[in-house]
Amino acid sequence: MPENLDTQARSILKENDLGGYTIPTKGLYPYQWNWDSAFVARGFASFDLDRAWKEIETLFEGQWDDGMVPHIVFRKDDPSYFPGPAVWGTNQALPTSGHSQPPVVATVVRDIYEADREAGEARARALFPKILAWHRWFHRFRDPGGLGVIAVIHPWESGRDNTPDWDGPMRAVDTSNVKPYVRKDTSHVDPSMRPLKADYDRYLAIVDFGRSCGWDAEQVARDCPFFVADPGTTFILLRADRDLLALAQAFGEDEAAQEIQEWIERAETGAIKHLWSDEAEGFVSRDLRKNKLMDGISSASFLSVYAGISDEQTNAAFARQFDRIAEKVSYLMPSWDPEDSRFEHLRYWRGPVWAVVNSMIGRGLLEAGDLKRAERIRADTARLIETSGFAEYFSPVTGAGAGGGTFSWTAAVWLFFARHEIPQD
Ligand code: GLC
Repeated sequence: MPENLDTQARSILKENDLGGYTIPTKGLYPYQWNWDSAFVARGFASFDLDRAWKEIETLFEGQWDDGMVPHIVFRKDDPSYFPGPAVWGTNQALPTSGHSQPPVVATVVRDIYEADREAGEARARALFPKILAWHRWFHRFRDPGGLGVIAVIHPWESGRDNTPDWDGPMRAVDTSNVKPYVRKDTSHVDPSMRPLKADYDRYLAIVDFGRSCGWDAEQVARDCPFFVADPGTTFILLRADRDLLALAQAFGEDEAAQEIQEWIERAETGAIKHLWSDEAEGFVSRDLRKNKLMDGISSASFLSVYAGISDEQTNAAFARQFDRIAEKVSYLMPSWDPEDSRFEHLRYWRGPVWAVVNSMIGRGLLEAGDLKRAERIRADTARLIETSGFAEYFSPVTGAGAGGGTFSWTAAVWLFFARHEIPQD
């Protein structure tokens, strides 16, 4: 069985490879997505290191002059997707969307560099200043107050599009000027597994806002109606900064190392100070426009371990929350707390399990020495893929696959994470 799945996973990556860049899945997502490509590169690295590097290099072809690496690079206009390049109006030579996505890349670049330093040295060195510029952009324009937590200006920037985390802050987004539009996602996938129309209206209202200010990063940070500190992006960037620091040290980039070290220190204290909730007993998001902490536990709450956050109080709460949720569902880690009334086991980021998030939580647990919990989340991911295939996401209750099929990042997660049992000693 595993060998068969290995072959299938590799063929999915190859089939979704459109020539140096990989699309998440045909039809539903026909372009290159940012964090998808990072995971895909790790998948490729298990059998083709050269192709892994290429994935990251093509992603960076979409990088903006201010350092931002966009969440979508639109190479060929494809009518099966909405909103396409014309709606974003970003005026880039290579058309892109107007905001970013969680920065998993530095971590992956370190991984594939360390897999073969000799083969990867020149390519890692060439990417280093570009990744540094991107991280600098995050710290400057998504944390303008220097709090040590990273905001997203659009739910899509978090990669967790319709998580209940955004419900409150999204109510402040005025949709009265949104022009009529036709969604494409619901013609590919059952609408009950996708965000609602009310969500989509607000998604488009923020895109209209960004376009109206020419996607100027400073203005967006100041005036965007949605500006919410995200535990997911904050923890992923903190982790990525640690990996970027390791690269800076390997390449003798002392000044950069100093700068990155400061970001790390700020994030370590900032996350606890601004995202920790005693009430929820976990890391939650904070609406920076209203300075209000949200109240729910999501799968992103557990990325603290991937970020290397470790202290007595948060570790004990982490274990309690993990075990509580593990008892409630058949498959970890639901994207939203299954005991909360907003949980929906098949609706996108309001409950389903996403293999990529599991891979990060699992890795963090493994590195922290929590082998038992690491193996539980690894084995659950494997069982989901074995039973339901390479779906976009899965029900934590029944294990059914949902959303799009033959999904690149699920295939990649199989290859670099789910298939490798974690020894218990
Ligand atoms: C959806 C997901 C996002 C992902 C994209 C492409 O928008 O929410 O995280 O990057 O699809 O797979």
